[in-house]
Amino acid sequence: MPDANILGIESSCDETGAAVVRSGERILSNVVASQIATHWPYGGVVPELASREHLRAIVPVVRQALAEAGESYQSIDAIAVTQGPGLAGALLVGISFAKALSFALEKPLIAVNHLEGHIHAVLLDYRQMERRRRTTANNEMEFPVLALVVSGGHTHLYLAEERENLWTYENIGHTRDDAAGEAFDKVAKLLALGYPGGPIIDRLAQHGDAQAVKFQMAQIKHADRRRDWGNDRGDRNHGGERALRSEDDRPLFDFSYSGIKTAVLRYVEMQNLKPAIEARRAALAGLGGKPAVEDILKLCDRQTLDLVASFQRAMVSDLGAKTLAAAREYDVRTLFVSGGVAANSELRAAFEREAAMQGLPVFFPARALSTDNAAMIAAAAFPKFLRRQFASEDFSAEAGMPLR
Ligand code: KG4
Ligand code: ZN
Repeated sequence: MPDANILGIESSCDETGAAVVRSGERILSNVVASQIATHWPYGGVVPELASREHLRAIVPVVRQALAEAGESYQSIDAIAVTQGPGLAGALLVGISFAKALSFALEKPLIAVNHLEGHIHAVLLDYRQMERRRRTTANNEMEFPVLALVVSGGHTHLYLAEERENLWTYENIGHTRDDAAGEAFDKVAKLLALGYPGGPIIDRLAQHGDAQAVKFQMAQIKHADRRRDWGNDRGDRNHGGERALRSEDDRPLFDFSYSGIKTAVLRYVEMQNLKPAIEARRAALAGLGGKPAVEDILKLCDRQTLDLVASFQRAMVSDLGAKTLAAAREYDVRTLFVSGGVAANSELRAAFEREAAMQGLPVFFPARALSTDNAAMIAAAAFPKFLRRQFASEDFSAEAGMPLR
């Protein structure tokens, strides 16, 4: 297998990323410019500001990634860029820059689905560890793999297969409404805990009683989904074996997280927590800029910490129960958990515990590779590079791009 140093570029949401990865298994550099400070005052990502910040950051971030890798524009073998899903304006910044580089340098360009990137972050991390331990092929992962991609924009379950560097994905579940990370972010905003909510709630929850508030999670009837399959039929259409399987009657595993956000709001109203929340909002605004979690913690009473811990426990239990039920139903050999929410400490511990009880190996990327980054894009591009699956000159951003 030839070695290839691929420059990855990621700009789908609120992080501008550039990385150089050798042959999908060795990170030479991985630079991420976060826009948290820009979006912080708004409590969420503002698309127009995101595009502007990407424009500002893209050149220095790419230069830094090349310099840290000891590479130059001329020495890289290919350029990979996120095509979608994501914010159209944000995606376009990365795509335009990658296209210009590819044209000027006469290097191949590879378009990568952001979700595929999250899945390949797991493999990249695993392969890096294997390299360090100097172990090899007899430790290969077994297929089929079930991948839970759980982030601010997605809560998707995919069955993943690989044959001769061709990766195919079958969607067997997704959220009907809010993504899990979105629920973390919305609850944090509602409680005036800051943005992005996931990492803050993760830290605060460690100080609360997760049994204090009982949340009822939405139970999705699988039969409902068969009627509204629509787009997902496309996801399942891989031909041969897969086409037959799409007709089989196995259940799908959907999620729903808008209800729990409403339940938190109802709890806030019933317990009259609003004055304390507004006081915290004012205190945090007074600190100016992004406060440390310790500062937020000081502004939280016991009831708020209990609420946050109970919310996180309910989210983790639901994600775990549905994913492991899907793993049993589809009889998978390996489980991947990736995307921003995969950085959650309670989620990692719960998945490890439950999967071990089921005798199922579970893999997470390191935390820095769980949230958005460009190393995962460069890693996902490597099998496409080997297959010479290059992007045409006229490809563009696809905000709602499905993964197949
Ligand atoms: O993958 P990502 O960086 O961007 C998207 O593709 O969406 O995920 C960002 C999401 C945000 O919703 C953020 O709150 C959540 O991941 N997140 C976490 C944690 N770290 C990031 N959620 C729970 N616990 C965490 N430690
Ligand atoms: Zn992401």
